[in-house]
Amino acid sequence: MRGRVIAILLAAVAACQAPSATGSAPAVNIDALRWLDPSADPVAHLTVQPATCQTAPVSPSAQRGALLFSSPLLLGGQAAKAGLSCASCHRNGRGNSAFLFMGISGAPGTADVTHGLFSTVRADETFNPVPIPDLATAEGRTRVDREQAGVLETFLTAQIVEEFSGTAPESVVIDDLAAYIRTLDTAACAPNTIEAQSWRAELSLLRAGLIAPDVRSGSYKDAMRAALGRLYERYPGQQHADLRTDLIQLSRVLADGNPPEDIGQTLDQLAEQLAGAEAGSLYSPEVLSRALR
Ligand code: HEC
Repeated sequence: MRGRVIAILLAAVAACQAPSATGSAPAVNIDALRWLDPSADPVAHLTVQPATCQTAPVSPSAQRGALLFSSPLLLGGQAAKAGLSCASCHRNGRGNSAFLFMGISGAPGTADVTHGLFSTVRADETFNPVPIPDLATAEGRTRVDREQAGVLETFLTAQIVEEFSGTAPESVVIDDLAAYIRTLDTAACAPNTIEAQSWRAELSLLRAGLIAPDVRSGSYKDAMRAALGRLYERYPGQQHADLRTDLIQLSRVLADGNPPEDIGQTLDQLAEQLAGAEAGSLYSPEVLSRALR
């Protein structure tokens, strides 16, 4: 499992070292493109997303839940191999109308979560994709009761283990995920608003990992490394060589399971680097659209 993040990083390094036919335009190697409806606008899809709709206050547990929600390594089997996380389908806890995964989706925005590709436990024989619910809406709350203590927790454990062939997570992981999901509510944001995708969101996720009960615990560490991998995807090419080296270095430090005391400062420095290089990164719609040409 842990090998995957390294494999992604190595693949990304290789892709960027290959001579580019377009000269200075960096190679775009962003995972999310692999489950994107080809008729959707990739620049819009990769630079904006449905707005965050969370009721305040967002507890440390809910912040950690957001980190876990974006971690492919929480899921097992084919879903994890493909790099899918909860957030791939529920972008920012919402829906994803452009989700199109070969064999799993029918129309864009749908998924068959009882498909044998993800798990044999819940697999049924029929191809029955359904729309991916926006978890912040009333319609995204029909299948599982969030109010009654323990019900959402039981659902999430079963979902990870049975639907996505994951290993049963520790109870703190489930509690954090449940806390995050409970904050999602469209009452906390204007309808149909979108927000820019940014390195800032990844940095908040990384910071949330530092308040984990045990940063060395596998799930948080994996989730933090996945966030670093997503930053790595957005800063390609030679011009970001130093930043990329630092991201790999930080990922290694986390992998070793012994993050130094001053890792918070390391993240502050990283934030400065990311901000400084933002205009030339693939978070910029102009740079991205040039690179995708
Ligand atoms: C492949 C896309 C996909 C992934 C990955 C995914 N989901 Fe979902 N999720 C769906 C679909 C589709 C449904 C609706 C299923 C149904 O109605 O039977 C759903 C339903 C749900 C519901 C129930 C909503 C309700 O009506 O109460 C919750 C909660 C949820 N997902 C959370 C998660 C979490 C947490 C993860 C990660 C562990 C995750 N999902 C990963 C597609 C996905």
